Amino acid sequence: MTTASQNITPDHVADYYDRLTDVFGEAADGNLHFGYWPHPHDGSPLGAAADRLTDHLIGKLGDVAGRRVLDVGCGSGKPAVRLALSARAEVVGVTVSPVQVERATALAEREDVADRVRFVCADAMTLPFPDASFDAVWALECMFHMPSPAQVLGEISRVLRPGGRLAVMDVVQREPVTTLDRDAVERGHSMFAVPAHIELAEYPRLILGAGLRLEEMADLGDEIIRPSTEALGRAAAANPAAFAAAFGVDTERFETLMAEWVRITAALHLGYVVLTAKRPA
Ligand SMILES: C[S@@+](CC[C@H](N)C(=O)[O-])C[C@H]1O[C@@H](n2cnc3c(N)ncnc32)[C@H](O)[C@@H]1O
Repeated sequence: MTTASQNITPDHVADYYDRLTDVFGEAADGNLHFGYWPHPHDGSPLGAAADRLTDHLIGKLGDVAGRRVLDVGCGSGKPAVRLALSARAEVVGVTVSPVQVERATALAEREDVADRVRFVCADAMTLPFPDASFDAVWALECMFHMPSPAQVLGEISRVLRPGGRLAVMDVVQREPVTTLDRDAVERGHSMFAVPAHIELAEYPRLILGAGLRLEEMADLGDEIIRPSTEALGRAAAANPAAFAAAFGVDTERFETLMAEWVRITAALHLGYVVLTAKRPA
């Protein structure tokens, strides 16, 4: 783990997403995650690149047609609905944000999948589901919000049936924070409700500790982090008043925080882990 810990709780995260879901969603066509640009000269907008990232994770999950999938940290439901439509799965999404449950439920109704996609307001550290009740689980860009990733992975392992697969995408630290200004890192984490980023090298141990068997793991940071932060920066610069209001600061303060965030993000050496693991049969 990094040493940049915060007292960020699931209640803080819920409040953060109740305020920010709509502005972030507008920037990324309903998604609340980064984009994926596997080819350097691909000029896709953030929304299309974010859908591409979802599709990459769908590919990692394997055949889930007719299966029950848990979406941990479901955001406003776009990835869950995309999974239900393309893989014909039944999906249950959990988020700590009541606003997201509302947005996600409305989306499932609009897309005519409400009979097999539903959303629940719950904390992933104490999942309200019986043991072995899901065929597969994914966690798309949410682990960095969790005060105890080990506890969440333990819960995921508990609700996954033996032989079921977990797929994770997460922003990670490629190396420990050593030389950075720790106060600045803490301000950056606090701004984005991040207790800490998991270190890339720590993931295999966390997966094993949860009773899961790691299948594959890759760092796609170079194709995801920089282009996504640039695209988000452009979205914020195009509409600073809306972003500032959602962050609860004035525009000038927001611009200062954004400049600091860009600096910190570059200095943190962030990576982007994509992994799959199985609960042994
Ligand atoms: C960056 S958003 C990603 C949303 C969605 N996976 C997507 O890709 O569009 C992080 C999500 O994790 C959820 N989250 C954070 N901490 C959580 C917790 N303790 N329990 C459940 N969900 C949590 C947030 O509410 C939010 O929906």
